[in-house]
Amino acid sequence: MTAKPLTIVRTIAGLRAQVAAWRAAGDRVALIPTMGALHAGHLSLVALGRERAERTVASIFVNPTQFAPHEDFEAYPREEAKDAERLTEAGCDLLFAPSVEEMYAPGFSTTVTVAGVSGPMDGAARPHHFAGVATVVAKLLIQCGPDIAIFGQKDYQQLQVIRRLAMDLDLPVEIVGGATVRAPDGLALSSRNAYLSAAERVVAGKLNVILKTAIDSLRDGEAVDVVEAAGLKALAEAGFDPIDYLEVRDPNDLSRLGPGPLDIPGRILVAARIGRTRLIDNMAV
Ligand code: PAJ
Repeated sequence: MTAKPLTIVRTIAGLRAQVAAWRAAGDRVALIPTMGALHAGHLSLVALGRERAERTVASIFVNPTQFAPHEDFEAYPREEAKDAERLTEAGCDLLFAPSVEEMYAPGFSTTVTVAGVSGPMDGAARPHHFAGVATVVAKLLIQCGPDIAIFGQKDYQQLQVIRRLAMDLDLPVEIVGGATVRAPDGLALSSRNAYLSAAERVVAGKLNVILKTAIDSLRDGEAVDVVEAAGLKALAEAGFDPIDYLEVRDPNDLSRLGPGPLDIPGRILVAARIGRTRLIDNMAV
């Protein structure tokens, strides 16, 4: 079976024209924003889009405003030709791949900040990160005007920031969260896993094991503060350094839960570094 062709569009006007034509024909449109270096996790979101809408648009844009000066913006993997092949195989209809200049015209001065959910955890560890994410996602949603937009639960705090953003700005889009795709040992797939050495990759697999152990303890009625302390100790013993956080939080507003045993559903979230690679993961409790 030959795959249908993938259209690549680099301008906002071109994106708008194609989406308008599809919507005029009665087709629903799903948008899947990414920064490229696509793996099975990203492609699962494209598959979800194809279940939910007649047309799927993926965007690839390594967004400079969500990286701090010391972070990996320059080193971030860029492999558009391979990504276009992967999207074609996945049955995606359109790739929107704008330049930095198309996205941020000279004099660009607007920042979207989402208070509250952007504050703790990754927001504390990476102070301007979620403002960069919220700004570029607001732009992508306005540029494309999709019926649904799909994000991974892998970046759970980001997903909650985007849900809040869409609600607060009355954006007429349904935000959908896709399940995390994992390697056989449990490590969540991530474009940044490419930075791991073979030895680091073995340690990285323990991140998810430690989360599962913590979830078992919470199910057994252990107190949240005890479980968090045990998880931090296990991370340090496994070789993660530094550890940014391991916390049990409310799944919606991300407020802290505990310190006693959980009596409502929670979300356990972790961020820790192994060598020069920062890994994040989270699971429902
Ligand atoms: P990126 O890291 O490329 O991720 C793009 C989307 O894929 C995000 O919604 C992310 O949560 C999802 N994703 C990543 N790994 C996944 C996995 N293992 N399983 C399922 N989904 C996964 O997140 C970003 O880009 C950017 O911040 C972006 C939202 C595009 C804004 O610049």
